[in-house]
Amino acid sequence: MPAETLPTTKTATLAFEDKTVSLPVVSGSEQESAVDIQKLRAQTGLITMDPGFGNTGACKSAITFIDGEKGILRYRGYDIAELAEKSTFVEVAWLLLNGDLPKADELKGLTADITRHTLLNENFRRFFDALPKDAHPMPVCAAAVAALATFYQGDDGAGNTHDTVIRLIAKMPTLASYSYKHSIGQPFMYPVNKLDYASNFLHMMFATPCDDYEVDPVLAKAMDLLLIVHADHEQNCSTSTVRMVGSSQANLYASVSAGISALWGALHGGANQQVIEMLERIEADGGDAQKFVDRAKTKKDNSRLMGFGHRVYKNYDPRATILRKACVDVLKRLKMQSRQLDIAMKLEDIALKDEYFISHKLYPNVDFYSGIIYKAMGIPVNMFTVMFAIGRMPGWIAQWLESRQDPDNRIARPRQIYTGHTQRPYSPIEKR
Ligand code: CMC
Repeated sequence: MPAETLPTTKTATLAFEDKTVSLPVVSGSEQESAVDIQKLRAQTGLITMDPGFGNTGACKSAITFIDGEKGILRYRGYDIAELAEKSTFVEVAWLLLNGDLPKADELKGLTADITRHTLLNENFRRFFDALPKDAHPMPVCAAAVAALATFYQGDDGAGNTHDTVIRLIAKMPTLASYSYKHSIGQPFMYPVNKLDYASNFLHMMFATPCDDYEVDPVLAKAMDLLLIVHADHEQNCSTSTVRMVGSSQANLYASVSAGISALWGALHGGANQQVIEMLERIEADGGDAQKFVDRAKTKKDNSRLMGFGHRVYKNYDPRATILRKACVDVLKRLKMQSRQLDIAMKLEDIALKDEYFISHKLYPNVDFYSGIIYKAMGIPVNMFTVMFAIGRMPGWIAQWLESRQDPDNRIARPRQIYTGHTQRPYSPIEKR
């Protein structure tokens, strides 16, 4: 169902030169309001300027709600902490895609559908052979997801997208684990359909054909939790990319592939890799957390406290609260010590009392603690952002589908204020 705004009679008035225009105000179900500027240019000749889109609503959406000031995150009205405690990733995928929690037969059906589609076409193996062994798995996954469109050419997104949706959720762990197996020169492991989603991924990552491999249920549970907390986050950079690419009528594979590329960046999903590398550097440097916090405050060498700060959260990211607890829990259950968790907690402690971090409203985000759990699970550092991508898949798809059904959806095409040369005559090369 397309997302609706609530009827409102409120308006905002804009006065510019000799014109005054009244602009409608739209409201959502959580009383957030926006000035609707769709007629602004036609009425005044003005456009708006908002680099980074910090004040721009690009769509109406009924999928995820965030109140960054209060630190609230809800998928389809359900609080993230409650979903993390009680749900599973496949159930959350259904929720995001369909709007409500599944009934037992619906969950069974989705699980069976996903299981049936985990295999890759055998010819796909050669795709990995073409890539260097030391390739970062994020561009490998982005390319592999785009390449799925060459195997399923009928899925252009115009009609029944059901199989495409299932294929993307089902095949992403297979593609991700194959990118890893290729990098270490081990044989690809086929999916094992009797395993649940998270266990199947861990099996494809860590099993070899020579030995029996039992998936540790503690790790499978931790992985499922990580997937749930990453499943959607409204109009972030990668999701906006997925919607933007989709707005040109590009198919779902192409749109999601672009989203994976956007997620790779260090300021977005790539931050989880950056955090662990930062913790490793601090550890190697003697473990002085204070020194690093002080450095992050001076803008001289562009060094930021990775895993801290967020465009929307001006309070503790609720996902970080969940993952901090999970970190302690998982390490305890695995009977593992982590010097990096100690350093992370120390960093957090110092930063939360520091005037710079307080005044800038910088708190730990989802990426601050996730890497420590991934590391304990044996996931290599350059695969951390791939884990984020596996989790974000149902969110990207739900947002893409919602945009396709939105009657207001048009090709995304921002404007600009041109600051280059005004018209000038072409000069022949000998006269330049
Ligand atoms: N360490 C030190 N200072 C920071 C940090 C940080 N991590 N984050 C922001 N600041 C400062 C920044 O220097 C600026 O200061 P001033 O106003 O004095 O110039 C102010 O806070 C605002 O920063 P901004 O870059 O304008 O804020 P933004 O909303 O554009 O960026 C962010 C948000 C997440 C990119 C940024 O906080 C950051 O770079 N954090 C580190 C990277 C990170 O952890 N990213 C993961 C985000 S959560 C996962 C996801 O969904 O992507």
